[in-house]
Amino acid sequence: MEDKIMLITGATSGIGKEAAKELAKQGHTIIVHGRNKGKTEAAVQELKEETGSDKIDLLLANLESFADIKRMADEFKEKYGHLDVLINNAGNQYGSTWEATAEGHEKTIMVNAFAPFLLTYLLLEPLSKSGEGRVITVSSASHDQGGAPFMDDIELKEHYSYGKVYGVSKLYDIWIMRHFVKYCEEIGIQGITFNCVHPGSARTNLGNTGNRPLPMKILFFLWRPMMTSVEKGAAPTIFAATSDEMKNKNDFYIGPKGFEKAAERYYTEANEKILWDYCMKIAEPYMNV
Ligand SMILES: NC(=O)c1ccc[n+]([C@@H]2O[C@H](COP(=O)([O-])OP(=O)(O)OC[C@H]3O[C@@H](n4cnc5c(N)ncnc54)[C@H](OP(=O)(O)O)[C@@H]3O)[C@@H](O)[C@H]2O)c1
Repeated sequence: MEDKIMLITGATSGIGKEAAKELAKQGHTIIVHGRNKGKTEAAVQELKEETGSDKIDLLLANLESFADIKRMADEFKEKYGHLDVLINNAGNQYGSTWEATAEGHEKTIMVNAFAPFLLTYLLLEPLSKSGEGRVITVSSASHDQGGAPFMDDIELKEHYSYGKVYGVSKLYDIWIMRHFVKYCEEIGIQGITFNCVHPGSARTNLGNTGNRPLPMKILFFLWRPMMTSVEKGAAPTIFAATSDEMKNKNDFYIGPKGFEKAAERYYTEANEKILWDYCMKIAEPYMNV
C-alpha cells in the first residue's frame, strides 16, 4: 500500500495512538486528532520520535461539540485535498447519570456515535477523492450488551444507565456506518467503504477519567489483568485501514480474531432509518459542506 493520508480520532491515547504509530511506521501520513492541545502536541512529538516519520500532523476538536467537529472538518479540507482513511476511534464513557453537552446532547452518545456521524458526513467529499476511501469506526463488543435501544428515546433520557448508554452508542455506530453505504449509493458518491472494528478488551485509559459507578470500578479493577495489550486491540483497526482484503468491502465487523458478525437482534431497516434521520436532524445546522 502506498503512502495514504489517514485521520485518526482519539489518537492521543490507547488504541488510536497505537494505530497511529504502526500506520506511521508503514509510511502513511497520519493526522492525530486530540481534544487537548498540549496532550496532542506531546503525542505527535512522541510518535515522530518513535517512528522516525515527520509526516504526522494534528487537528484539535472536542467531539462533545458538533460546532467544533465542523470547524475541524473545515480545517482538514483547507489543508488537505483528499482523505484516504478516516478512523473514527475516539470514544468515551461518562457517569452514572444523564449528562448533557453544551449543545444539549447526551455525552456518551454524542462522542461515540453522533461525532463519527457528523465527521464522516463532512469528510465524504475528500474521502471520495481518494479513489479508495475507507471509513473505519471503532465499535465494541458492548454493542450487544446494552440491551434494546429505544427508538423513541435515542439519547436515553428516560432509559439511561452507565452500561446501557455505552452499549447502545456502539450499536448506533454499526447502524450509522451501514446507512452511510446506502446514503452514498443514493446520492451517487462512489469509492468509499464503511466498516466497523472492535478491539476486544484492551488495557487503555477508557473510562478512567469518567465518573464510573462504584460497582463498575470494582468490576474494571478485577477485569483489568484479563485485558489484552493495546497492540492486540489496535490490530483490527490497522487491518481494516490497510489490508487489500478490505478493498470494496462494506459493513464488515472485525475483531482481534478476524471477521465477526455484529449482533442483529435489535436491527431492522426501520430502526436504522429512524436513527439516521435523527442524526440528520440534530446535526443539520452543522452539515453544510
Ligand atoms: N479498550 C477497550 O477495551 C475497548 C473495548 C471496546 C471498544 N473500545 C473503543 O476503542 C476506542 C478507543 O478507546 P481506548 O480504549 O483506546 O480508550 P482511551 O485510551 O481512553 O482513548 C480514547 C481516545 O478518545 C479521546 N476522546 C475521549 N473523549 C473525547 C472527546 N470528548 N473529544 C475528543 N476526543 C475524545 C481521548 O482523548 P484524551 O486522550 O484527551 O482523553 C483518547 O484519545 C473507543 O471508541 C472505545 O470505545 C475500547
